[in-house]
Amino acid sequence: MPITLSESEQESLLEFSIQLAKDAGAVILQGSKSIRQELGSSGIDSKKNSVDLVTEWDVKVEEIVQNAVKEKYPDFGFIGEESYSKGLRPELTDDPTFCVDPIDGTTNFVHGFPFACISIGVIYQRTPLIGVIFNPFLNQLVRTFTSWNPGLALADVNGQTVPGTKFSALKGHGAFLNLTTRLPLSPPSPLSSLSSALIGVEWGHDRTKELVDKKANSFSRLAGDPAFGVVGGKMAHSMRSVGSAACNYALVASGSLDLYWEIGCWPWDVCAGIVVAQESGGFASGGPHVNHDGDVTEEILHGRKYIVVRAIADTP
Ligand code: IPD
Ligand code: CA
Repeated sequence: MPITLSESEQESLLEFSIQLAKDAGAVILQGSKSIRQELGSSGIDSKKNSVDLVTEWDVKVEEIVQNAVKEKYPDFGFIGEESYSKGLRPELTDDPTFCVDPIDGTTNFVHGFPFACISIGVIYQRTPLIGVIFNPFLNQLVRTFTSWNPGLALADVNGQTVPGTKFSALKGHGAFLNLTTRLPLSPPSPLSSLSSALIGVEWGHDRTKELVDKKANSFSRLAGDPAFGVVGGKMAHSMRSVGSAACNYALVASGSLDLYWEIGCWPWDVCAGIVVAQESGGFASGGPHVNHDGDVTEEILHGRKYIVVRAIADTP
């Protein structure tokens, strides 16, 4: 019998996912402390190549999350980055399935660059339903970010503890930062062309000459001035590379980035981000060759080509 979820079951699933993300966030912080105190690179391994990093903490956090899911929702599916890379690759069904990256931004985690998060998505009837992205590092940066986050500024002024930076969304219910601040952070404005955009880009883990050249070409056309020799140059305001796909989706949902695209990431990198971005009024898809009606299909979710654009005000 397929599992069906009522509205209230969906809401408690969201609450469960938020609590799980908080618990995992505490372990990520502990891991960061321990990794930064260790000399050399013990505990840091690589997967596909020397830039595709994994640490004992990625594995530990995924185990914690998977065990909690197993206990509370024993019949739900589970796709996790670390178990997937060890060969656990369950087929997607219509049943609810957790899709989890225990640490998205592992390179940042290893280097102490404070953009790393846990990304918990739940897929239901083959489309992303719930997204929770928790960056436990950013409360160290609350003051730096007050200008783009009035909600956090207020909490800080009132002397309350700000529990990291938590983006969450349930399909049809809007997207929120730290549970109370609705996304996007300011009313959507028009986006007239790429030349006025701030664009999220990533180098990713594939570093063959063919792929690196293609990416560098795209980046140079986005940044370059067509009046000064860059053929096809768009002269975008700029590009940013924060090193975490999920953080990129959260930044697009906030309206801080206008768009982000990447070829080569995986469902667990984007699943939660897709819901958060869509619920903020943004558009998430998977490249120009995929037809879809606005929902992110299984084909898009597994297609390894992703694009997301922030909410845009209606204009003629
Ligand atoms: C990676 C990050 C990175 C993106 C890669 C992802 P990981 O995930 O999201 O920004 O460029 O494509 O695989 O390895 O840190 O979990
Ligand atoms: Ca990861």
